[in-house]
Amino acid sequence: MSLKFVAAIVLCIVATAMGAVADPTASQDLTARADCDVDSAVPFFRAYSTSATDHFYTTNYAEMKNAITNLSYSYEGNMGLIFRIPTVSTALLYRLYSPNAFDHFYTTNQSEANNAVRELAYYDEGAAGYVFQTEICGSVPLYRLYSASAMDHFYTTSETERGNAISQLGYSDEGIACYVMPGL
Ligand SMILES: *[C@@H]1O[C@H](CO)[C@@H](O)[C@H](O)[C@H]1NC(C)=O
Ligand SMILES: *[C@@H]1O[C@H](CO)[C@@H](O)[C@H](O)[C@H]1NC(C)=O
Repeated sequence: MSLKFVAAIVLCIVATAMGAVADPTASQDLTARADCDVDSAVPFFRAYSTSATDHFYTTNYAEMKNAITNLSYSYEGNMGLIFRIPTVSTALLYRLYSPNAFDHFYTTNQSEANNAVRELAYYDEGAAGYVFQTEICGSVPLYRLYSASAMDHFYTTSETERGNAISQLGYSDEGIACYVMPGL
């Protein structure tokens, strides 16, 4: 193992132990890019694992393909479009994962993300992407739901699906996670 590799692992462990999630947008020039520029928006792919009772979301096609091929997730389409690069009006959507709960958790709230890492043993998996926190540019709500018994965070743009998860599947309504551009 190279020294550099060891150093990277140590840094990663230290960052996790401190419970601080990184904000990669901090040093970027946000004003250079226009809001509402759908050209830089990409599908937020969604998959579900019945065995793990886990909803998983990513903009990374290769990662999604791996989850479907190798990790027994079923593809469930996309939950609208989100941005790969930040603009003035977007917020970072943190992605966190708990291997104990088999739960992928997404939030724009940095204190909540920090808390999940510090208190709830979630790993900081970086930015899922960038999203709106208000309903601008023709965006739509991405609803957030949680099942304590399944230990599963579930996100959907469908009001029907949201209603069904609450009335039939034991999920609690956790409001609106963020706003995404409507899916294709
Ligand atoms: C599935 O896993 C194998 C072994 O790790 C890997 O080589 C392959 O690329 C993976 N498949 C996909 C679609 O990522
Ligand atoms: C963010 O999360 C913290 C900690 O969980 C919570 O106290 C606060 O109300 C949240 N802020 C918003 C705007 O939801």
